[in-house]
Amino acid sequence: MSSNSPDTDEPKSLTAAWITAILLIVVYVIGLLIFPPLYDAPKGDVSSTVLFIGRFHPIFLHLPVGILGVLCLFELICSTRRGERKFGEASLLMLIIGAAGAVFAVFAGIMLSREGGYVGGNFSLHQTMGLLGTAGVLIALVIRLMGMGRGSMELLNAYRAVYFLSFGIMGLGAHFGGNMSHGNKFLTEHAPAAVKGPMVTMEKWMLSFVEKPKVEKAVPPAGIKPDVPAEVKIEVKTEVKPVVMDNVPTPPPPAPGGAEKLVFQHVILPILTAKCNKCHSEEKSKGDLRMDTYELAMKGGENGKNFVAGNLKESLSITRVMLPLDDDDGEHMPPDGKDQLTPEEIALLKWWVEQGASGTQKVKEAKFPAELQATVDGILKG
Ligand code: HEC
Repeated sequence: MSSNSPDTDEPKSLTAAWITAILLIVVYVIGLLIFPPLYDAPKGDVSSTVLFIGRFHPIFLHLPVGILGVLCLFELICSTRRGERKFGEASLLMLIIGAAGAVFAVFAGIMLSREGGYVGGNFSLHQTMGLLGTAGVLIALVIRLMGMGRGSMELLNAYRAVYFLSFGIMGLGAHFGGNMSHGNKFLTEHAPAAVKGPMVTMEKWMLSFVEKPKVEKAVPPAGIKPDVPAEVKIEVKTEVKPVVMDNVPTPPPPAPGGAEKLVFQHVILPILTAKCNKCHSEEKSKGDLRMDTYELAMKGGENGKNFVAGNLKESLSITRVMLPLDDDDGEHMPPDGKDQLTPEEIALLKWWVEQGASGTQKVKEAKFPAELQATVDGILKG
């Protein structure tokens, strides 16, 4: 390595690269002002174009991940002066393409989140780390250009430090995005015990920064921190009943349930549609499970036995929603990060299974538990 030639190799014209870099940064900043990242179930009045672009997020994100991954290798080679001379410009090109891809992936992701229902720890970490990682890559790009312009190995090394860190943040962020689509256990499920332990611990540690104690969420028999028994929570909701009645200027409060409405079709299915069927219907049938009709919900997925009449313990959809949100195997449904069932919704599903999981029972003939009547009425009103 020619450590005896401290000055630059022939000065390169980086004008085009500078213009692109500055454009990318401007687009990133202005874009974030127009589409600010939101965290609490971001749902907006957005055009179908926005939602259409959002759907490209899962496809498009692979470009930056891939190209920036290869760039890591290139940067190792570039860490010598000779390597930099040979591959510096190629690395710069990859960095620019990767940064542009990351910027686009971030915006597509924000647009995707506007579909609503994106909440929870996985989502918070995914969005935050995606944003930070991308900002880091843009900053790294500026430092690389400065380093190349001045032929300064110090600046180039500083660039590499920023770059590797940003890529690491982005990679971890991508992982939490994967958890959102494939469930928390996806990566760790088949990991050897020695690796699995530390991975799960680290993941939980990171999630602990963004997750609020989930009092109002799952109702595990024993498990997560706030041990509020199900009954107590259901009572809380019951008190909401008069409020609901007051707020809605409906004529005479109709007797529970409509005329020929069916329990499954009009009470149970709406719960599944709202909380499960983004992943378990025609478009997506994760775990081979569809629940958009009575027959499919009863048929079950890979493991069958989705709802077993009269048997809560055998009913997979019941046992999996009952698991603690931070279940070690990541089996809890819906996956952490997605809109969760309320205790009342869980209680209704259980009630329905216990009294036979019927597809034909009429609402007016059903005897809903008194403490769930308010919830049932709410669902029937839509
Ligand atoms: C964000 C997507 C998503 C949502 C929402 C979701 N699931 Fe799942 N579900 C999955 C994935 C992914 C799998 C497959 C991996 C696994 O088994 O964990 C799965 C598997 C299952 C299985 C196992 C099927 C079998 O036969 O192996 C059941 C049961 C299930 N989900 C029930 C539910 C219920 C009930 C809800 C709503 C309360 C729900 N899921 C909401 C993603 C989702």
